[in-house]
Amino acid sequence: MNIQSSIGTTPLVELRTFDIPADVRIFAKVEFMNPGGSIKDRIVSYILADAENRGLLKPGATIVENTSGNTGAAIAMIAATRGYRAILTMPDKVSKEKQDALRAMGAEVIVCPTSAAPGSAKHYVTCARRIHSETPGSFMLNQYDNPLNAEAHFRSTGPEIWDALGPSVTAFVASGSTGGTISGTSRFLKLKNPSVRSVLLDPAGSIYHRYFRDGVVDPSQVAPYFVEGAGEDHLAECMDFSAIDDVIQFTDADAFATCQHLAKREGLMCGGTSGANVWGAVQVARSLAEPATIVTVLPDSGNKYISKIYNPDWLRQNGFGSDELRTLEPNL
Ligand SMILES: Cc1ncc(COP(=O)(O)O)c(C=O)c1O
Repeated sequence: MNIQSSIGTTPLVELRTFDIPADVRIFAKVEFMNPGGSIKDRIVSYILADAENRGLLKPGATIVENTSGNTGAAIAMIAATRGYRAILTMPDKVSKEKQDALRAMGAEVIVCPTSAAPGSAKHYVTCARRIHSETPGSFMLNQYDNPLNAEAHFRSTGPEIWDALGPSVTAFVASGSTGGTISGTSRFLKLKNPSVRSVLLDPAGSIYHRYFRDGVVDPSQVAPYFVEGAGEDHLAECMDFSAIDDVIQFTDADAFATCQHLAKREGLMCGGTSGANVWGAVQVARSLAEPATIVTVLPDSGNKYISKIYNPDWLRQNGFGSDELRTLEPNL
């Protein structure tokens, strides 16, 4: 058995400790139980298998990608098992644990300033594209604009949810960066039942919320935030707004307070986007009157953020003192 064959078919757990209407249920797919530690194993294995089949990725070639860490971990894992070289670029806000994990699996990591403007030479996306163009025979997954990203979720995440819960599914709720998860999963669930509601969660400081409402990419909306792996400063082609019914904005505090709740009450120590996703699922649950089943994903584990989300000093220093997080908890 190869480690790659254990990707997918992740557990679907019911969250029972949140204050939501009695006839509304929330289920979360525990994506951090994928072997590379995140939901991104699904898209990377899918895209690389396709590239191998089409002869775009030759033995011993170099894989290049811009990543906030999880796609990189999946690439590094598969590159290690299949003899590829991996070069990964990332913004410097990505936690040290994530950077080091990639290096541990033999990947070369290039850290770029988070503050670099999209399109500028120092931006991590531009940097990956330059390395790809300068490296003969290299393959770039291009996860932001590659339709196979959403297709991987259409073929795996969506069907797994439907197989487990069937027509009881009322809503799918998830944050998005490339948009692959929300777009592909929503498309599949809506194919099965067009009334399934799809809700994107977007961090304050990202462009998607305004774009969904007004069709405008507003650079003045771009602002720093701490949650890693959600929101964007540019439109990703994978983000399919035709499959999305609503966009709800969240803050770092919403996400981190929910992370504390998930760890302490549900035994699920998750990353920031998991906190955001569950916070959003709770908001949707509270807005529903009739019996409903809401599904979300827990994209990665809290082990990658011990030095941040689970470090009281870091939380305090960055404006998330125990009072802020505690005062949010009763609202959950
Ligand atoms: C931790 C985490 N959560 C969620 C996402 C969002 O997934 P998607 O790119 O499919 O929109 C990412 C993507 O980078 C991520 O790293």
